[in-house]
Amino acid sequence: MSKIKIAIQKSGRLNEDSVQILKDCGISIDNGKDQLKADTRNFPMEVMFLRNGDIPQYLRDGVVDIAIIGENVLIEKGQDITVAERLNFSKCKVSLAVPKDFDYKTIKDLQGKRIATSYPNTVNTYLKEKGITADLHQISGSVEIAPNIGLADAICDIVSSGSTLFKNNLKEVEVMLTSEAVLAVSPTISDANKELLKKLQFRIQAVLKARA
Ligand code: PRP
Ligand code: MG
Repeated sequence: MSKIKIAIQKSGRLNEDSVQILKDCGISIDNGKDQLKADTRNFPMEVMFLRNGDIPQYLRDGVVDIAIIGENVLIEKGQDITVAERLNFSKCKVSLAVPKDFDYKTIKDLQGKRIATSYPNTVNTYLKEKGITADLHQISGSVEIAPNIGLADAICDIVSSGSTLFKNNLKEVEVMLTSEAVLAVSPTISDANKELLKKLQFRIQAVLKARA
């Protein structure tokens, strides 16, 4: 019998809530610690624990059939991928921030400035819309440190509680987008797995309704 392959975040903010929503759907994961691939009970499903940023490509390649992923990641590098369901957790913003003492009035203040980010496409699209050109520095984590070490004048990153900005003496000046966890679907999913996806969506919708 066919099994549907689902990717969830290996570690990080989405991991726990992703495992939880599957659990609430009655699907428990047989997960030994540090296992990257696991079977489940009560549903023909195989779980792969992957890095966030790699998930869009795995969906495209059909290595996995579906994924629980932050919408912000799809906006950055998975615009071609279909969203089947919004999951109403892991809500965050993707924002521009500057040092507290930066006298920021409008986006024009970023003209020609150096911006550190893990979301270059998202920033580029936003700045282009506003007619601003800036010097982007792509880094993969700990972005908020960049202004303090003289690497950038501004940053763009995820803001959830705002505590990382606060701790690094930064202030949020533009919210570029808001995001939540979504269930994304591979363009190459088989008909048999489409049927399993329907069953899973049915359970997810019931869980979301019960949570509301
Ligand atoms: C994420 C994100 C922000 C922070 C936002 O970083 O990149 O830095 O969380 O959350 P907050 O507003 O609640 O502070 P994470 O801790 O996942 O580490 P990373 O940037 O090194 O990936
Ligand atoms: Mg961070």
